[in-house]
Amino acid sequence: MRIVMIGSGYVGLVSGACLSEFGHDVVCVDTDIAKIEGLKVGKIPIYEPGLDEVVAANVKSGRLSFETDLKAAMEAAEAVFIAVGTPSRRGDGHADLSYVFAAAEEIAHNLKGYTVVVTKSTVPVGTNKKVAEIIKKVRPDADFDVASNPEFLREGSAIEDFRRPDRVVVGCHSDRARAVMREIYRPLYLNETPIVFTTCESSEIIKYASNAFLAAKITFINEMANLCEAVDANVQDVARGMGLDGRIGNKFLHAGPGYGGSCFPKDTLALLKTCQEYGTPTKIIEAVVAVNDARKIQMGAKIEKAFGGVAGKTIAILGLTFKPNTDDMRDAPSLVIVPYLKDKGAKIKAFDPEGMKEAKKHFEVEWCNETYETLQGADGLVILTEWNEFRALDLGKVKSLLKRPLLVDLRNIYRPDMMASAGFQYVSVGRPD
Ligand code: UGA
Repeated sequence: MRIVMIGSGYVGLVSGACLSEFGHDVVCVDTDIAKIEGLKVGKIPIYEPGLDEVVAANVKSGRLSFETDLKAAMEAAEAVFIAVGTPSRRGDGHADLSYVFAAAEEIAHNLKGYTVVVTKSTVPVGTNKKVAEIIKKVRPDADFDVASNPEFLREGSAIEDFRRPDRVVVGCHSDRARAVMREIYRPLYLNETPIVFTTCESSEIIKYASNAFLAAKITFINEMANLCEAVDANVQDVARGMGLDGRIGNKFLHAGPGYGGSCFPKDTLALLKTCQEYGTPTKIIEAVVAVNDARKIQMGAKIEKAFGGVAGKTIAILGLTFKPNTDDMRDAPSLVIVPYLKDKGAKIKAFDPEGMKEAKKHFEVEWCNETYETLQGADGLVILTEWNEFRALDLGKVKSLLKRPLLVDLRNIYRPDMMASAGFQYVSVGRPD
């Protein structure tokens, strides 16, 4: 198959590279000339483990290339994917679809022969229909179908998620488009990945409903963690006991400082807006959003309590990104927690393996180059993100560097009994101290 991927951001680049690995000829197109020039010489603009190798191997094999000129790229394309951003629109929380619609118009001008126009960007219900209308308006003669094909990739494990998805969802309204989509994902039939064929509308909802459901699951366990703290119960035992019920499932039941990232906060808000717009408001998602927003402040207060007040104290913070294995700081809990602590008069020393370049745009703290330098002379340590390198700290060294052996672990990566025998005052989430 000959495929064009419009948008070489996170989703476009990962999807384009992985589709070329499936054996297709893929051209990734982006209007950002510097980005495309960089990609041509192997410079990957985002941090995603394993992506550089997949890109390099497929560029070498000739199946993957990068262009700024859509017209040339589309010459013989059988499918064109739209993988541009759909950020929250300033002011109202709706998804901003201007990039999607601009891409649709440009595609329309360059269509040649039967083509499936596939939306991979996360778009509210009804968008694929609008994409089809835009194309028809520009080119009433065009021979095309639209298809909705949402992505379910997690940052940090996107390559694995693409290679071994739980499912592929495709919304389209013709057998011809279905056949093209089936061919694109043919390699996945080998490991019996279910492919859910449905309408564009249902497919669009599946994406938002999945993210909102996962966000609700996290928020639910976070509230149970609060109850556990109040009654000396253990939220990890509660999550395990719940999760073994196959109807509930054990994933996304890790209590923590609240969900962040480029997807859950944006998509829950957008779904909320869509539901309101269609006169079918959702109180559940409204509560999820509000509880998660409040949670980040609560975590600031939790740290303050553990330190017995933070004014004039130095706090060492390890981890700033919204989760490990990414440099993404979007809606990271640290963006609320660090300013909260600073406002209360704390001095912050911080280190993150990949996120500091981005974090520097958001707040000013004492930046450190590695873990143990961060701890030197601090009144206590706070772990905000569960990077692997923070999971096996040399506790003796930690203790000798800190003024006081205090660890606030908002990701529950240590065991309370182990920390107690190492002589630490240890505060975690939803577990007895
Ligand atoms: C999420 C979804 O998991 C993907 O399926 C989806 O494709 C993607 O959004 C998207 O829409 O593009 P991502 O945002 O990369 O992926 O990260 P997750 O691993 O889902 O984590 C999101 C947030 O929830 C993080 O802040 C994480 O720390 C938090 N989380 C996750 C918890 O607090 N507890 C958990 O049990 C799981």
